[in-house]
Amino acid sequence: MSETPTITIRDLVAADEQDWRRLWAGYLDFYESAVPAAVTDSTWRRLLDPHQPLLGRVAEHDGAVIGITNSVLHHSTWLTGQVCYLEDLFVDPVHRGLGAGRLLVQDLFDLAAARGWARVHWLTAQDNPARRLYDTFVPADHFVHYERDLPSADGTGPTPAGLPPR
Ligand SMILES: CC(C)(COP(=O)(O)OP(=O)(O)OC[C@H]1O[C@@H](n2cnc3c(N)ncnc32)[C@H](O)[C@@H]1OP(=O)(O)O)[C@@H](O)C(=O)NCCC(=O)NCCS
Repeated sequence: MSETPTITIRDLVAADEQDWRRLWAGYLDFYESAVPAAVTDSTWRRLLDPHQPLLGRVAEHDGAVIGITNSVLHHSTWLTGQVCYLEDLFVDPVHRGLGAGRLLVQDLFDLAAARGWARVHWLTAQDNPARRLYDTFVPADHFVHYERDLPSADGTGPTPAGLPPR
């Protein structure tokens, strides 16, 4: 008989820095992408700053951090409530299939209900296998995504190839 693994989802904390950086690097590798170290440092700092609209959550299994979500909270002209944009979702490849990905997404819906957010939304590539998971929450809509990168004054902008579709 197989046992359901115990996975808990919680806020990112300062002590998670090494794990978060490892999983973030894995996520960038998954997209065959890179960002300057200054971007990673800034994202890490802002995720921990309660005055910034970024939210970091982690999945923990047997005392180890095995997955992350990085989200952005923002306003909307179409809604009065706050909206959560799930920007990054990644589970350590060796811990996939345990249910962490599903719990990390469900966690944002649970937070939305508890905190009165009006919507959770996210993007992914047409062919991302993660859509099998996403489709169990809600069907994809018919919108297409346009994005134009601009040169950044501090040199911390995206790589010349641009960020990948998420
Ligand atoms: C997507 C991802 C987070 C799923 O993590 P996970 O912990 O393995 O997901 P779960 O164990 O909760 O699986 C959830 C369900 O989706 C399916 N699924 C999830 N990811 C899948 C994948 N890459 N390929 C095929 N099926 C997948 C599982 O079969 C499972 O179905 P089930 O509940 O019927 O068994 C993980 O594969 C990942 O980090 N991928 C690389 C990064 C990525 O694509 N992130 C999303 C970018 S938008």
